[in-house]
Amino acid sequence: MLLSALDWHPNPKLEPLHLDWLTRAGVEVAVLRLDRIDPLISGNKWFKLVHSVRAAHEAGAEGIMSLGGAYSNHLHALAAAGKRFGFPTVGLVRGHPQETPTVLDLQAFGMELHWLGYGGYRERHAVDFWAPWQVRYPHLYPVPEGGSGLPGALGCKAWVTSARGQLTALGWTDYHGWWLACGTGTSLAGLVLAEAGAHPVHGVLAVPDDHGVAQQVENIVGQAGITDPRYELLDGSRGGFARVDSPLRDFLDATHAIELEPLYTGKALMMLKSQVEAGRFAQGSRLIFVHTGGLQGRRGVE
Ligand SMILES: Cc1ncc(COP(=O)(O)O)c(C=O)c1O
Repeated sequence: MLLSALDWHPNPKLEPLHLDWLTRAGVEVAVLRLDRIDPLISGNKWFKLVHSVRAAHEAGAEGIMSLGGAYSNHLHALAAAGKRFGFPTVGLVRGHPQETPTVLDLQAFGMELHWLGYGGYRERHAVDFWAPWQVRYPHLYPVPEGGSGLPGALGCKAWVTSARGQLTALGWTDYHGWWLACGTGTSLAGLVLAEAGAHPVHGVLAVPDDHGVAQQVENIVGQAGITDPRYELLDGSRGGFARVDSPLRDFLDATHAIELEPLYTGKALMMLKSQVEAGRFAQGSRLIFVHTGGLQGRRGVE
């Protein structure tokens, strides 16, 4: 049931990260372990979904339908939540039927799948896109791809409360900023809203500039009425989403202190390393790196 899902309030742990390049620069990093909140409902996805789940419940819906690719972390978390809390889920999937490890999981979790092809999937932003699906599934609430947009961002605000509540345990009195990967920018926008200018948020784009992340963040921040947002977007896409080149591969092979995947968290930490080594952060700086999960998706790209 949607209602029982709303009773789940995961509180991700904040853990110190020890890496030689951080020690050399005198920069401290703590990782907010969203990847560890649950073995299946992992990463930033639940937080991006929770406001839609509440809206679905309030609208009298029984379950949720959404969109994603054949390796989608978002569909994976949604399907796992549906199974865990007992609500129906439907996934509209990009491309043509294929059996990736993610797709096999979605089916095992009981998500009903429809393959939209590539052209059909490109229509997902059209105003009447959901109309036929709402006729077909009147009891399901539609959620945009990736749980993006203001409702998604609102759910991510909770990370600031979680992290601040654990600073003392780390021996920190404060921190100098946040560091995380961006796909749509929704998670970053949630942090920007919660911080309301108190600390800067540094986002590393896992997708090239032309994906409209900057615009999306501006829209969310504008809708929320934040007048003085503090954030920056850095291009860490390495030339394309899902582009994994040898420097990135070498970096991941050399990073044993934390398990990452190449598409988001790997690119984000690699960009942090280059910025730290370029002297971007003064000695004594303290940053919170958000581990946004996605480890299940690695099964497709390794
Ligand atoms: C593992 C992982 N990290 C980060 C992101 C980026 O999150 P957002 O779309 O909120 O920027 C995504 C999805 O887009 C993801 O799957």
